[in-house]
Amino acid sequence: SNPKYSTCWLSYKPIEEIEYVQEIEKFLDQIVLLEKNIYFQNAGNELKKALCALFGTELRLSNSININIDSGIILGKVTDERLNNFITDEERKEVSEEGFLIKVIDENKRKYIIVASKSEKGIIYGIFHLINKIILKTSLKELNCVENPKAPLRIINHWDNMDGSIERGYAGKSIFFANGRVKRNYKRILDYARLLASIGINGVVINNVNVRDKAIWLITPKYLNDLSKIAEIFRLYGIKLYLSINFASPIYIGGLNTADPLDKNVQIWWKETVKNIYSYIPDFGGFLVKADSEFNPGPYVYRRTHADGANMLAEALSPYGGVVIWRAFVYNCLQDWRDTKTDRAKAAYDNFKPLDGNFSENVILQIKYGPMDFQVREPVSPLFGAMEKTNQMIEFQITQEYTGQQIHLCYLGTLWKEILEFDTYCKGKGSYVKRIVDGSLFGMKYAGFAGVSNIGDSINWTGHDLAQANLWTFGKLAWDPDKKIEDIAREWTILTFGDDKKVVDNILWMLLNSHAIYEKYTTPLGLGWMVNPGHHYGPNPEGYEYSKWGTYHRADIKAIGVDRTSRGTGYTLQYHKPWQEIFDDINKCPEELLLFFHRVPYDFRLKNGKTLLQFMYDSHFEGAEMVDKLIEKWEELRGKIDEEIFNRVYERLNMQKEHAMEWRDVINTYFYRKTGIPDEKGRLIYP
Ligand code: GCU
Repeated sequence: SNPKYSTCWLSYKPIEEIEYVQEIEKFLDQIVLLEKNIYFQNAGNELKKALCALFGTELRLSNSININIDSGIILGKVTDERLNNFITDEERKEVSEEGFLIKVIDENKRKYIIVASKSEKGIIYGIFHLINKIILKTSLKELNCVENPKAPLRIINHWDNMDGSIERGYAGKSIFFANGRVKRNYKRILDYARLLASIGINGVVINNVNVRDKAIWLITPKYLNDLSKIAEIFRLYGIKLYLSINFASPIYIGGLNTADPLDKNVQIWWKETVKNIYSYIPDFGGFLVKADSEFNPGPYVYRRTHADGANMLAEALSPYGGVVIWRAFVYNCLQDWRDTKTDRAKAAYDNFKPLDGNFSENVILQIKYGPMDFQVREPVSPLFGAMEKTNQMIEFQITQEYTGQQIHLCYLGTLWKEILEFDTYCKGKGSYVKRIVDGSLFGMKYAGFAGVSNIGDSINWTGHDLAQANLWTFGKLAWDPDKKIEDIAREWTILTFGDDKKVVDNILWMLLNSHAIYEKYTTPLGLGWMVNPGHHYGPNPEGYEYSKWGTYHRADIKAIGVDRTSRGTGYTLQYHKPWQEIFDDINKCPEELLLFFHRVPYDFRLKNGKTLLQFMYDSHFEGAEMVDKLIEKWEELRGKIDEEIFNRVYERLNMQKEHAMEWRDVINTYFYRKTGIPDEKGRLIYP
């Protein structure tokens, strides 16, 4: 049946190139499953469905004891002896727990495409990989591959509330909750699981990190029955269910008068609670915890450390293989703006660095990519280079809270890739963030990626149709951060919109330039913020200047920015050499982060000779103007793209244009009024 919502990159359209069809058809006699279980059955069904849509052939799906066919697609385990003739020992050994290999046997009498995984989990990844490669018309030779996820944890974080709203959600309501209940729209959840499995995701946290009211009870029998059904759907696609918890649950729902992690009764209560969860969900992933952060309770309330808190929960989860994902987003959100000693950017490091080595084996620290809060640009959090004995995950925000809220086009892959490629130098040259979050640099058991979801129950899942690319890219980077971002974006474009050259070229241009454009007309040079408080949309230069959130630029008539160097707040000292010196030096600091690290007078000359002020003016005019180019590129695709989608995106691009002009005018006017120095080019600052 035709779902009332988009199938995104899994919308299979008939393949028309005769030559390619002929090449593949030789292999399409039947699908043989060498394993008899629901995971292989499900993978087989997915493949069957896809091939039927792509080639118009209904393939027989059979369980077989022997491989006695002439042609077909064979799904099995790498260790299967029946594959001995086709897979070498070396190839076998290369496949890791969640990985798979694809091998094409193209002989006179035998024409097989073999997809083999090591575990039940890996097979679904292999199937989707094969389907995508076929849609991309990959030649037979290039189908051969061994694919292993680099990072063990690849998790989506939903900030969904039980009333159905989504904190920082811009694409409708929750697909999981409504009216204080767990929703039973299993079809939509299944389609979501398919999307996630197709990009290699292996975990979902379905409730908001701010756990309040009814959500506190999710870990109790009140809800566990319903949750176990959701877990079952996800399980079929290799995805584990996790829950966010409130650290003070023993008080709220356990009838205790403390949540002190060193209290015996508190420990027992958590153990019982966890035991019960596993009786409903045997492969439950674990807890995500926002503690001592933005008014959420935590161990500090009891003068305990975050290690005390996390380890107590870890002990309860450990017998079942569960983990505690503990967020490092801990800072003073009640700062007095007159206090210039406290620097929010330093907070995560100051809170957690001293605890390196104190966390249990099944605790993972989840660290936002930057030290503040998902701004359009921030330096890489120095914590990544600071905790060699702690499991770490990087947290990206797929939902565009500060990057245009899915009204503006802002593809985040380019930014994420830069972050992952950052060299921390913590173990000398080559200590990339990507090697820390895939666990390899420090040899950690757990490591990975968390992405704050951008989906809701809207018709296209993400509000802006092109924002689907951000979800896709998050999964792809988590699977393999070494992949080129252009390739990731190109694959998404072709899978979503087909391979018409103009379509691919234009959309690729739009995606790859969109973050830079957004940055230009909002807050370039690492300035950040300047948004409206609360909802965080639209320009407001002093929106956060006199508030308690610790996010100040301290602009006056002469200069703007915070001195975070060793002469200022000392934030730069949290980095290894040579970054300390580079960030410390106003002439060496990467320009896109200048105002993050330095307090800079408006007449300071940038590398291109412009003054800071003139750069600001130019950047905003240029950025807003470049939105025209985005619109132009899209307009050229009229008639080449499904009309509904075309119009939806077109409408958002036009809103983006209007809002980009507002950004330009408000920010430029702000600087003009601060400085009284006009634009050198004489443009109208406020039309
Ligand atoms: C941001 C966001 C909040 C969210 C918080 C977090 O501050 O605005 O809505 O709860 O991050 O990551 O915990």
